[in-house]
Parts: sequence; C-alpha cells; structure tokens
Amino acid sequence: MKIRAAITAVGGYVPERVLTNAEIETMADTNDQWIRERTGIAERRILDKGRATSDMAVIAVNDLLSRTPYTAADISLIICATVSPDHVYPATANIIADKIGATKSWGFDMNAACAGFLYALRTGAQFIESGTHQRVLVVGADTMSIRVDYEDRNTCILFGDGAGAVLLEPDTEGNGMIDAQFEVDGSGCAYLQQPAGGSYEPVSVQNVRAKRQFIHQEGSTVYKFAVKGMADVTEEVMKRNGLTHEDVRFLVPHQANKRIIDATASRAGLPPEKVMINIQRYGNTTCATIPLCLWDWQKQLRKGDNLMLAAFGGGFAWGSVYLKWAYDGE
Ligand code: COA
Repeated sequence: MKIRAAITAVGGYVPERVLTNAEIETMADTNDQWIRERTGIAERRILDKGRATSDMAVIAVNDLLSRTPYTAADISLIICATVSPDHVYPATANIIADKIGATKSWGFDMNAACAGFLYALRTGAQFIESGTHQRVLVVGADTMSIRVDYEDRNTCILFGDGAGAVLLEPDTEGNGMIDAQFEVDGSGCAYLQQPAGGSYEPVSVQNVRAKRQFIHQEGSTVYKFAVKGMADVTEEVMKRNGLTHEDVRFLVPHQANKRIIDATASRAGLPPEKVMINIQRYGNTTCATIPLCLWDWQKQLRKGDNLMLAAFGGGFAWGSVYLKWAYDGE
C-alpha cells in the first residue's frame, strides 16, 4: 500500500500572560464589544520579553515527545513555519534542534505567512512519502506581539503568541495526508505585509520611527480574499475526494477571524460542532493556529476521522489539506 504521511502526535504551548480586550481598550481606540462581534476574539497570549519563538516551540515539541516513545535523537527533520524567527538567519528550526537535542536532524524554516503551517505540513509529508525520512517534526510558532503596534487598532486586536507541533510518520493503513491544494497571489503583498526589515526597505531609524517594522494590513481587502480563498480551495479538495459535509469529522481552519471561519464552514456545509475554533482564547497566532487547534481537540479525534485543514495568509498564500487521522486520542 502507498506510504502516506500521518500525524502521530501533537504538542502545543501558549504563554501564561493573557492580554484581554479590556487591556487593549487602554492602548488603542477600540472596545471589547466591537472586537468580539467583528473578530470573535476575547483574549490572546503574550510571550514575556527575553523569550523568543524557539522557546515556545521547544516547549511544544517536548510536550509532543512526551506523548511518544521517541526522544529528540529519533527525529530526522524539523521544519519550522514562522514569520517571527529568532533571527533572520540562522533558521529557527536549527535552534530548536539544538535546544531539544535533536542531534541527528537537519531542518529549515518556511514562510508562507498565516498559511505557513500547512505549507510546512505538505512539505514534511513529501519526505515521508518518498521514504527518505521516518520521523519529521512540523512546527508552527509565532511571537506576533513583536510584529504588532499596540496603538494600531486595525491589527493589535487580532494577534497573539503561541506554538504547536506535529510529528509525521509513515502510514500504510490508508490514514494520513490524502490530498492538498495550494495557491498564491503575489499581488496580495500590497494589502498585508511587514514593510521594513527586508531588502526592499532595510531597517533604518526613520522607518522604525514611522513604525514600518510592524504589520500593515488593509483588513477589509484581506477579509474578502480570505473568505473566498479558504472556502474555494476547501470545497474543491472535498469535491474531488468525493467528500460531503457528512463525511468530514472536523474542519480545522486557520484562526484569523471567526467570521472568516464561519463563512468557510458554511460553504462546506459544516455545522459549528464540526469546526475547531479557539480564536476567542488565543487570537491569530499565525503559524501556530492549526496545530494549536489539533492540540486542543486531540482527545476527541479518532483513527480514520476525516479532517479538512484550511488556511489563508499574507502573500496572498492559501491552501487546504485533507487527511485521515491516524490514532485514537487519549
Ligand atoms: N475597533 C473599533 N472600530 C474599528 C476597529 C477597532 N479595532 N477597527 C476598525 N474599526 C472601524 C473602522 O474604522 C470602520 O469605521 P467606519 O465605518 O466609521 O469607517 C469600521 O470599524 C469598519 O471597519 P472595517 O475595516 O471595514 O472592519 P471589518 O469588519 O473589515 O473588520 C478586521 C476589520 C481587521 C477585523 C477584518 O477586516 C479582518 O479580520 N480582516 C482579515 C484580517 C486577517 O485575516 N488578517 C490576517 C490574515 S491571515
């Protein structure tokens, strides 16, 4: 039977510090009711100063490993999806490998903004399917609090910090990743980006004063593209695999805005009880949203469950993954 890449363990971590809507009201011109109604977010987690993205990722990975018979030395590849790496280089994946003691692993980072985890998952799956790797860690981790201007009400209400990780292993029982589809549209760069800090606009005193090292977003444009992109691609992958809403156990959507999630679920014909939503507690943790959903729901998942994963992010970059869950939750 064909070798498929199955998720065989999940780990997660969110920082202890909670940033509520009430606190954000004291920093920006907004209010709790508006944030809840327009985004579904009530609070998010914020990493303490002095800690970095890899620190959260390491806790998530150790949480994952504690649910497996493996040690870090059994991992052969680490892919870290992030838009807030510890450094521009080296890759955060290398730092994670060093901190957990993954002495036999190589690794690299991947950036597809909020779609990063799904891109990394698809990439990691290829190494399993080809037979070259037996145990691949896919990490999604972001410290969005360093990317956000807390006086900008267009963005500061949305984002939070967190990390999630999954282990991919070969499966020959028909479970694992069955299908996936990804799309990009580079013209989306104008609507969602971090203007300064790259080669196009290197960091300078002037642009830091102008706050160009923070996220800039045209929210309503991104919203429209996100609703269409996530719903279209999810519907297409379901259709070509002969899946109806009855066959799908859970939709696992990127958590950017509850209204985007609801629109995607509605197009797929999925009722609320079949949709993983934790945006009210964590906000948008960018690359960590999907693994944090799996982490929160892992006890409810059963071998053979059909899951539809979907994400949309800056780029624009979006996609959907269809997988069959490979084990019974604890
Ligand atoms: N608090 C209070 N009022 C706010 C506000 C806030 N935080 N942000 C915007 N407003 C106001 C606007 O000024 C506008 O007022 P006006 O009608 O008097 O001009 C009104 O609310 C509507 O603004 P709009 O930007 O159209 O709101 P929206 O319904 O599109 O919601 C977002 C804004 C950002 C929540 C929403 O567009 C969104 O979630 N976009 C996608 C973001 C995303 O997914 N980003 C990451 C990609 S993965």
